[in-house]
Amino acid sequence: MRWTAPPPAPRKAQTVPRKIIIDTDPGIDDALAIYYALAAPELELVGVTTIFGNCEAPLSTTNALRLLEIAGRSDIPVAEGAHAPLVVPFGGAADFVHGADGQGDVNLPPPKTAKHPLSAAQFIIEMVNRSPDPITLVPIGPLTNIALALALDPTLERKLGGIVLMGGNAFALGNITPTAEANIHADPEAAERVFRTHVPIVMVGLDLTDRALMTGDKIDQLATFDNPRAQHLARIIPFYRKFHQQWYEADGILIHDSMTIAYLLHPHLFRTRNYQIVVELHGVNRGRTTPALERGINREAWAGRPNVTVCLDADISALIDLELQYHAKP
Ligand code: BDR
Ligand code: CA
Repeated sequence: MRWTAPPPAPRKAQTVPRKIIIDTDPGIDDALAIYYALAAPELELVGVTTIFGNCEAPLSTTNALRLLEIAGRSDIPVAEGAHAPLVVPFGGAADFVHGADGQGDVNLPPPKTAKHPLSAAQFIIEMVNRSPDPITLVPIGPLTNIALALALDPTLERKLGGIVLMGGNAFALGNITPTAEANIHADPEAAERVFRTHVPIVMVGLDLTDRALMTGDKIDQLATFDNPRAQHLARIIPFYRKFHQQWYEADGILIHDSMTIAYLLHPHLFRTRNYQIVVELHGVNRGRTTPALERGINREAWAGRPNVTVCLDADISALIDLELQYHAKP
């Protein structure tokens, strides 16, 4: 019998991790998203920028520093961003959702590390201009810092690797008003500027995330993972879970912000469609992200706008199981 050499072992695809900056107001679902990204070798978190929203901006910064410290990743810089929206005063923290400390009122010690000296917008500009590879922005709070960065350095528009944001609602109802989602509603003028740019944008909004329920049994599973990130999540989630019980009569938590990371890692599990988006700035619909539809007249409002990739649906239960696998990593 002739000996034949075995076929060469398939070479592992050399994937360069995708560089991301998370812009955040942590926030309990923000903490889940940050820890999800940290556990993903497919992603390289090159910085965290903070924003008002669930918390006042300085508390967002403190929480981002604490979250990275707990994860043993204080090497990742944290730059503080805007304290208020572009044109109106800050509407106030969401302490009834995330706790007065933004982290489920668990009394965390102050962080040992300090914030970066640059503002969030300047930090984003600096990082994007310095990086040999494109950086993708992942805003999971109001879009003020992103609008400021794009205004301060218009070259970002062609240099960014994209924006994958949590916010908006093309067809779903709102969660902060009957028609608007909280992150967009917190600074509609900023969102409107961002949606007008030609950076490729993926909108992971309430069309999807209002169904992204991590159920009680999955939360219990997360609590069994023996690593500091999961243990912190297990401490802070009960506050957020109680809010969901009282507000939605749901057994579980909506993991809005995690869905941006899920999209970056598993886009094939999402159903998306392109729409031009206008952000409503006035009246009862302030903060609503209205898509241009083929039907109807009066489409001038959307004329010349780039398309946004809007997430409409996903295999949510598969995504949540996958996310748990990342949280389980040591
Ligand atoms: C968004 O609002 C915040 O409370 C959450 O952190 C999330 O970013 C959901 O509408
Ligand atoms: Ca958030």
